[in-house]
Amino acid sequence: MTATIKATTDVDKSTNIAWHDGNFTRSERETLLGRKGLTLWFTGLSASGKSTLASALEQHLVSLKIAAYRLDGDNIRFGLNKNLGFSDADRTENIRRIGEVAKLFADSTVIAITSFISPFRADRDSARALHEAAGIPFIEVFADVPIEVAEQRDPKGLYKKAREGLIKDFTGISSPYEAPEKAEIHIRTDLVSVEDGVRKIVAYLEEKGLLQVDAAASAGVKRAAGVEADDASAAKK
Ligand SMILES: Nc1ncnc2c1ncn2[C@@H]1O[C@H](COP(=O)(O)OP(=O)(O)OP(=O)(O)O)[C@@H](O)[C@H]1O
Ligand SMILES: [Mg+2]
Repeated sequence: MTATIKATTDVDKSTNIAWHDGNFTRSERETLLGRKGLTLWFTGLSASGKSTLASALEQHLVSLKIAAYRLDGDNIRFGLNKNLGFSDADRTENIRRIGEVAKLFADSTVIAITSFISPFRADRDSARALHEAAGIPFIEVFADVPIEVAEQRDPKGLYKKAREGLIKDFTGISSPYEAPEKAEIHIRTDLVSVEDGVRKIVAYLEEKGLLQVDAAASAGVKRAAGVEADDASAAKK
C-alpha cells in the first residue's frame, strides 16, 4: 500500500496547544502606541505594478513616521516561503501564510502592505475573512493592467520565458488570474502614475479615518498605564 503524502497545505497538524492571551487588548496597544494597524492587500498580474506601488506607498507613509512594512511576493519566497512553488496548492499555501503574517503585523499596529499576485479569489477572500474575524481592516488594492501592457513591460523577462514555455504555471498565460470583484481600491496602472496611485490609496485611508488615532484616548490610556507625558505629535499623524 502506498503511504499518503501530506501536502504542504495540510494545516491542521497542531495538537495540544492552547491560546495564551497577552496582558492588554489590541485597542489598548493602539492607544498606547498612538497608531492603528491594517492590511493593504495588493493583487494583480505580474508586472501590473504591485511592488512599485507598494514600495512608493511604504516610502510615503514611513516618511510621515507612520509605521508601514512591505511583505513582497518575491522577497518572501527568498525566506519564509522558499519551500513553495507555483502549483495551485503551493500558491494557496503561499497566500495563506501571508494572510496570517500580514494579520500579525496589522495586529501589532503596523500597516502591512502585501504585494503578491494572489491570483485566486478564494485565497484572497480567506485572507480577508481572517482579518475581518479579528476586527482588523483589510483593504484590497487591485493593480489592474491589460495583460498586453504587462507583457510589454516585462521588467523581469518572465512573460518572454513563459511564452517560450520555460516557465510553467505562469499567471495570465498558463495559470488563471481571477480579478477582484469587490476591491476597495482599483488602480489602472497604465492610466495612473505611481504618484497618483499612492495619492489615491492615501486618500482612501484618510477618508475612512484609518490614519487617525484619537489623541485624547491615547493620553488617557498612557496615564492609566503610567506612561510618560503624551507625545501629541505622534498621535496626530
Ligand atoms: N503607474 C504605474 N504603477 C506601477 N508600475 C508602473 C506604472 N507605470 C509603469 N510601471 C512599471 O511597471 C513595472 C511594474 O513592475 P512591478 O515589479 O512593480 O510589478 P509587480 O506587479 O510587482 O510584478 P510581480 O508580480 O512580477 O512581482 C515597473 O517596471 C514599473 O516601473
Ligand atoms: Mg512584485
